[in-house]
This record gives sequence, C-alpha cells and structure tokens, in this order.
Amino acid sequence: MSDLDLSSSAISLPDTPAAPVAGTGGSAQATARDAVRALRSSQIREVANAGFGVADVLPFWFGESDRVTPAFIREAATGALARGETFYTHNLGIAPLREALARYVSDLHGATPIESVAVTSAGVNALMLAAQLVVGAGDRVVAVTPLWPNLVEIPKILGASVETVALGYGERGWTLDLEGLLKALTPDTKLLMINSPNNPTGWVMTRDEQRAVLAHCRRHGIWIVADEVYERLYYGAAGERTAPSFLDLASRDERLICVNSFSKAWLMTGWRLGWMVAPRALMDDLGKLVEYNTSCAPSFVQQAGVVAVEQGEAFTRSLVADLRVSRDHLAAALAGLPGVDVKVPHGAMYLFFKLEGAQQSLDLCKALVREAGLGLAPGSAFGSRGEGFVRWCYACDPARLDAGVERLSRYLASR
Ligand SMILES: Cc1ncc(COP(=O)(O)O)c(C=O)c1O
Repeated sequence: MSDLDLSSSAISLPDTPAAPVAGTGGSAQATARDAVRALRSSQIREVANAGFGVADVLPFWFGESDRVTPAFIREAATGALARGETFYTHNLGIAPLREALARYVSDLHGATPIESVAVTSAGVNALMLAAQLVVGAGDRVVAVTPLWPNLVEIPKILGASVETVALGYGERGWTLDLEGLLKALTPDTKLLMINSPNNPTGWVMTRDEQRAVLAHCRRHGIWIVADEVYERLYYGAAGERTAPSFLDLASRDERLICVNSFSKAWLMTGWRLGWMVAPRALMDDLGKLVEYNTSCAPSFVQQAGVVAVEQGEAFTRSLVADLRVSRDHLAAALAGLPGVDVKVPHGAMYLFFKLEGAQQSLDLCKALVREAGLGLAPGSAFGSRGEGFVRWCYACDPARLDAGVERLSRYLASR
C-alpha cells in the first residue's frame, strides 16, 4: 500500500496539458517533473503555517531539542573560522573527521576502516546520496511505516516506486510484522529503507529481527539503507550505549549503507553535518555524487564535528539521561488524560500516542495550534498507518512539557 496522499499536497495538478506558447518552445506553464510535483508536502509545516499569527504557541512539532549546541562544539567552529578554515574540502570529508568517525563507529559497532566512512551534509543528504547510489527509475523500494516522510519520498524523486509495510500497534506498543516484511521484500526489490530507532514511533528493531532481515536481503541481493540517526537516543539496559545496529551484524563491504547524523546526539540540527558507513567499492562513485550535490560539507562545520565526536561522549550520555526523564514525565502526564493511549518506547525522542477523535489528525493538530496554542505533529504526516495518532517531541525540560499537557487537557475538556 502506498502512503502517497495527493489530497494533502499543497500542489495542484492541472487536469489538461498546457497549450504550447509561441516563442517559448514548450508549454505555457513552467512546471517541475511529474515525479517532483507528486511528492507530498510536509503536513508538519502545514500545521505550523496554521499557527502563524497565533501569539503564544508551545511548539513540540519538530524533531529537535530546544537547547542550543554545547559550547565546546560551537567554540570549535568559531576557532576554525578564526583560523580561516573557509575552503572546499575533499568530497568525502576532511581526514581528521573521517578518522574520528571510523574510531567512533569501530568503538560502538566493531572494526570500521576510514575508507568505509564518508562525511555528508547531514542525515537527509546522506539518505539522498544513498538512494542515488543504488536506486533508479522503475526500481522497487520497501519502507516500514509509520516513518519520517523523507525516507519514503526520496526514492520517488529518482523515479522508484515505494511499497510500505506497516508496523503493528498493540499492548506492547509498536511492533514489526517480520513475516509481512520478508514477504514484501520480493527478489525483485532493490532496496529496503528502514529507520530504527524510529521517527515517529520510537520503535526499536531487535537484534533478531535485524539478523532475519539481513539474511533475507543477502539471499536476494537487496540493498539495505539503515537510518540510524537516533541510535544513541536509546533507553536500553544500563551500560547499553546504542540501539542494535545493522553494523553489529554485517561486514563493511556488503550491500548495507548506514546513515547517521550529528543532529541528534550532539544537538547540531542547524549545522547540517552527518555521515554514512558504506562499502569501500562505492566510495569513488559516492565522491562523484557528493561533488554534484554539495561538493563537500562546510570545512569549519567538519572541524566542529571532530570535537563533537572526540570530546562529546559525556555530553551525549547526559543528554540521553535527561531525555529519559522527559520521556517518562510526559508519558505519565499524558496517561492521566481521557482518550489518550500512550506507550513508552525505547528509542528516539517522541511519544506517538493514540488520541480519541484524532481520526483526522491533520485537522485536529491545526485546531490544537489555533485554539489551544499547542503545536503537535499529525500522525498522518508519517503515512496512513499513523492516522489516529499524534507525535510529541519531548526534547525539552519537564516544566515546558507540563505547560503543554495542561493545554491539551483544557482542549480535550472543552470538546
Ligand atoms: C529518521 C530521521 N532520519 C534522518 C533525519 C535527518 O536529520 P538531519 O538531516 O538533521 O541529520 C531525521 C531528522 O529528523 C530523522 O528523523
């Protein structure tokens, strides 16, 4: 089943082809390719736009913390700028950053040579590059939903078709229908796009599930793009630093591309810095794609990235401890509201909860922002499987969460 829902698109498609205009050599309308016009626009933006002009909105709709990047990382960037680090770099990133990332990934997931690591302009650029490396027009891609829409839309830009497999929802929260996924991964499938820990549900794929999916994809020659940008935002047993990763199971030279980002573990959303771990045999071609997309990540930003990776471990650990407190705090408060069904997930930084009366979650979220000053993301933004749910990013302090819950409570009581 496809998640494509043109009714929610801000773009209207013409019914009839435009007539050619003399002297233009083409049609009257200057339009983008069909595949681009058919992309979904962001429903989270749509809700945010509904809030323009509302003076007092508490925003929990976007996937970022309300805290600024730690000072030691910001100082590394300003130091690099002061030294004049303002030039192009190697397509795959500066050597110190690739080395630091290779050490970091090796430490978390086993031996990873520098040649397997490439720096990108954040996670979303890594996802686009990964898709450009392996997907072409007409290819079949499978994605597990609910899901941050970019993973579903990116392959469509390249002319691929995307089939979705829905997570189940029940007493244990969100769970994978492993048999259903393996069935959808037919031998003619080119790529599986999978995100764990998952945005929006917080679902974390188990090691056994990863093992089964990897074995199946190996058997049929299917590529895996594993989006692991939330791997460090994991609330597992004491001492577990990261969620299960495909990197723990796979060799570095098989059909696996692992995408990661500085945005979440070091609060660097605005910096646009990320990386991927990919087979060495791809790296020359990846270098060409980076050249034609962005040429490189900004040099002073990469210098800050070195400091984040090498000196940021204590920060990340304390961030995750704070997030765990916020998660539990919000879940307990929401559980006390009528019509709310909330489960506590083990990863990421969202509660994706069922709300009575949220069957039109986009309309509900627009009403919430206009009438209650509360900014939440509609479940339908993450595919049809998300309808009936809303997403709340809890990456802020508990007092702010309380103020938001108070607004939701008043709104629900007034309905
Ligand atoms: C699942 C997922 N993947 C990738 C990203 C990309 O993050 P960035 O481009 O900031 O690295 C996000 C951002 O929210 C995300 O939720």
